Amino acid sequence: VVKIAVADISTMNDNPGMDTFDDIEVSRPALAESYLGLLAAQPGRPLALFAPRRVGKTYFLDHDLAPAAKRVGLVPVYADVWLHKAAPLVAINHALEEAIDDLTVPSGPLGRLAKTPVTKLGVLGTSLEIGNPPERRPLPNEPELRLDALAARLAEKSGQQVLLMLDEIQSLGDLLNGEAAIATLRAVLQKRKRQIMAVFTGSSQDALAAMMTAVGGPMYQFAQIIDFPVLGVEYLERLADHFERVHRGTKLSVPELQRVFGQIGCKPALMKDLVKAMSAEGSTDVDLGLQRFMQDDRQLAGWRALLLSLQPFERAVLVMIAQGHPPLGRETLTRLQEVQGFSPTLAKVRVALDKLKKAGVLARPLVGGYTIEDRLFAQYLADLELRKVV
Ligand SMILES: Nc1ncnc2c1ncn2[C@@H]1O[C@H](COP(=O)(O)OP(=O)(O)O)[C@@H](O)[C@H]1O
Ligand SMILES: [Mg+2]
Repeated sequence: VVKIAVADISTMNDNPGMDTFDDIEVSRPALAESYLGLLAAQPGRPLALFAPRRVGKTYFLDHDLAPAAKRVGLVPVYADVWLHKAAPLVAINHALEEAIDDLTVPSGPLGRLAKTPVTKLGVLGTSLEIGNPPERRPLPNEPELRLDALAARLAEKSGQQVLLMLDEIQSLGDLLNGEAAIATLRAVLQKRKRQIMAVFTGSSQDALAAMMTAVGGPMYQFAQIIDFPVLGVEYLERLADHFERVHRGTKLSVPELQRVFGQIGCKPALMKDLVKAMSAEGSTDVDLGLQRFMQDDRQLAGWRALLLSLQPFERAVLVMIAQGHPPLGRETLTRLQEVQGFSPTLAKVRVALDKLKKAGVLARPLVGGYTIEDRLFAQYLADLELRKVV
């Protein structure tokens, strides 16, 4: 059954393709172009874009950077390092091989299918079965050598420079052989600087810092570290505009949206869900909306499940941090002792902190103490009773 009201058609005509909150997209071509400019100005030096989780890094690579790269004649290749932690170089190689396949596959239905705008490993890649491209000579099997050979071959075959986009690069830092992988990457990018450019993203500055010191500092000079900007007011204006259209003239206050957007860590998908919930209730009170959102059963169940996935001691440390206590402070230890009934050592707290960081729950900015990555989760934790979580 197709139900299109007359009013909907007029809205759609005014704003083609913009008929739900989910269709709102902010593109940032100028930002993409500025990054490409930086890359061109310093051959062999990658950019490392840093921002917390869920603010739009991957989205930007896919929707802005890859298209901008294509416009200036680069071949964009994408690999999610985090998804393929166990064998990052193999994952990167696979992405390069796919890009080569895209060039080699003859144009037929499959060929066209394979020509995805970005070669996405794990998302589109694995579902495509393409015959082996004719090859002049076998590529080396060792991932280190293979990376070098593939980069060269792709550049040569396409006659274009390659833009290698490595998402969540900091996860290399957690690997046993992570340093070696970084060293290889660095060597290849240096050697192939006329053929290949690279952009990394990361959501943990401290993991990157640790990674760089672990490899003796070269990464710092090697990559240019950039704070990736969160979405601006435009996104909130678009949400408010759509709300106004749906509710026939009822306006949301953009400054209030901006304040709450900041409060939730500038995560667009989260903000959209919040505004959608307000829209469903026909409410314009953003603070009330946020409160209700946080008390939503699904939300609470998710947080509870996250807490339960941690050890009791880790939970206790996390709650202490949420309640503003420095995790390694003497008072914190005393409080932990009170609820645990035995003496927790500093070493034990450190281990817990490390686990929480690896789980992505805690972040440690380059300056300042530990913070809880998700601000809403932090708020939830702040209201819990320590006794009840252990
Ligand atoms: N420019 C944008 N316009 C509209 N929505 C966006 C934009 N950037 C991100 N989002 C939304 O935020 C979600 C999370 O973004 P994502 O790129 O996955 O974050 P990150 O990679 O930083 O963790 C996306 O799935 C999308 O719904
Ligand atoms: Mg991402």
